Amino acid sequence: MVTEILDCSEASLLKAAELIKSGEVVGIPTETVYGLAANAFDETAVRKIFEAKGRPADNPLIVHISDFGMVREIASEIPNLAYKLAERFWPGPMTMIMPKSEKIPLVTSGGLDTVGIRFPSHPAARRLIELCGLPLAAPSANLSGSPSPTTARRVFDDMNGRIPAIIDGGESLVGVESTVICFEGSGVRILRPGGITREMLSEVCDVSVDRGVTNRLEDGAVARSPGMKYRHYAPKADLKLIRGSLKAYKSYVSENAADGSWCLVFDKSEAVGCLPYLCYGASPEEQAHELFEALRKLDELGAKTVFARCPDDSGIGLAVYNRILRASGFCIIDLE
Ligand code: TXA
Ligand code: MG
Repeated sequence: MVTEILDCSEASLLKAAELIKSGEVVGIPTETVYGLAANAFDETAVRKIFEAKGRPADNPLIVHISDFGMVREIASEIPNLAYKLAERFWPGPMTMIMPKSEKIPLVTSGGLDTVGIRFPSHPAARRLIELCGLPLAAPSANLSGSPSPTTARRVFDDMNGRIPAIIDGGESLVGVESTVICFEGSGVRILRPGGITREMLSEVCDVSVDRGVTNRLEDGAVARSPGMKYRHYAPKADLKLIRGSLKAYKSYVSENAADGSWCLVFDKSEAVGCLPYLCYGASPEEQAHELFEALRKLDELGAKTVFARCPDDSGIGLAVYNRILRASGFCIIDLE
């Protein structure tokens, strides 16, 4: 199979919609990261997503919609708070977990009786869903375990020969995946932090952050979100996350660097001696935008060990921290 790259023209989106309606999988841009989309109601099509990614069958997919009305087909029960949150944050990088309807096959929900629903804001994603007239199941478009792709080229790197087409919608704006929330009491619990932050959600309701967001799942514990238990976002290099002042970072790295060591820092003023480095941004927003691309580049550059500065965890920083912590396999070196 040759994987074709399509632009965002109406003609290309129509072509992609035909592929999806005939049971195929297409790489699509969203404002968070690129996704691998198929008809959420079609078991055979959804199985192809799992195959293309090499994803474990018990890790559920998010179902994407292009207007709120579609929720009624997908969820069997819509909490009152969901209307409020949708009004405030949809379309956008927020996924709400609700009880699933009969129409959503268990393959899509990873065997769960709930389903994650998201209304993306990327115009090409919205238009494509409209043209399909169907909700689209779409996980991030990387091979299972790798950093999520934020450009069509990165989707191509992972998916060439595995899917018929990718729509090129430019660089993803946010750069990390959506915030995943479930409903609990009168509020919500964050299962995966993302572009809609804890602070933003707190303006609407009570918010708690699941322990799994910043902690390794204990052996035998049941993950509230199956994605929590898998190794994720992992570069081939051994990534060490270093918490502490710039001074402490520099002296730790100088003492521990060897052949193949790289630094992943906020900006170039933080370079350590003549060690090679990449920057991933000074603000949490820039860091979210750059992190996955930086992790992929470090692999291309042949980095063996990466000493990464630890991001601040406020705002979208919590999402950046969550991803880089997982990329490090929870290897955090605390110099504070
Ligand atoms: O921004 C995003 O959410 C991107 C774009 C393509 O929309 N999609 C994405 O999908 O990140 P994926 O499959 O890579 O991650 C979905 C996460 C997984 O950690 C999964 O376990 C969790 O959401 N999830 C999905 N459905 C769930 C459910 N019913 N209950 C608990 N967790 C769920
Ligand atoms: Mg993913």
